[in-house]
Amino acid sequence: MKAVILAGGTGTRLKPLTYWTNKHLLPVGSYPMICYGITKLRDSGIREIVIITSRASLGSFADVLGSGRDWGVSIMYRVQEEAGGIAQALELARPIMSSKDKFLVLLGDNLFEESLLPYCEQFAKQASGAMVLLKKVDDPRRYGVPKLDEASGRILLIEEKPENPQSDYCVTGAYFYDTEVFDLINDVKPSRRGELEITDVNNAYALNGQLSYRELTGWWTDAGTFESLEEAGRRLKGAIS
Ligand code: DAU
Repeated sequence: MKAVILAGGTGTRLKPLTYWTNKHLLPVGSYPMICYGITKLRDSGIREIVIITSRASLGSFADVLGSGRDWGVSIMYRVQEEAGGIAQALELARPIMSSKDKFLVLLGDNLFEESLLPYCEQFAKQASGAMVLLKKVDDPRRYGVPKLDEASGRILLIEEKPENPQSDYCVTGAYFYDTEVFDLINDVKPSRRGELEITDVNNAYALNGQLSYRELTGWWTDAGTFESLEEAGRRLKGAIS
């Protein structure tokens, strides 16, 4: 399985730290944030990784990660010229995927305790469609929130940052897709904030009854705010093995 890490965006919620560097290169524990995603993928058996980032940050990612050799993976880079949304960033991986590929997309600011290997294995067995990983959170209003059909193990609908969340679950930034995702992205229209939203893409799968889910058992955090960046640092002390 291949993987894509999305590491573009503007890092607005972490200004002024992100005036001088990309959010995903900020220190978490003893490493730049991006290193945790790389090792999580490597430890899940994934060796081919595409990193999507901004033009301004590309050189810094290459400084830290190079070809991926020192991390035991092979890294390709793609440039997102403007931060037009998560789905727009993902579309840039299209030329790198073959039509039968199934792949994992990680948001670069999402940090996971547990191995993603079991989920990769489960998605490999899913005939088609998409799968997302959920986590119960205290304040779902910050996230994509799913409405579940527990009997079928499918998601019926995801609401992005709802005022009145329909569950305590958040859709984390780990998405498994088949290559149909690129056709679905083509049909997505910019949201009110002018971005191509990954939630709209996931809802297209959900409408077709093609969006399954699993619940994470270990801790999970994003690191896109000062509070969550601090939490990530507390949890990820020490060396990456
Ligand atoms: O963290 C999980 C949440 O991530 C989900 O629950 C939401 O459904 C999903 O929309 C997303 O919400 P955020 O508001 O936290 O997304 P953010 O804009 O912070 O972007 C998340 C990652 O995607 C970040 O690591 C940077 C990358 N990104 C984002 C944009 C807008 C890009 O690579 N390019 C972009 O244009």
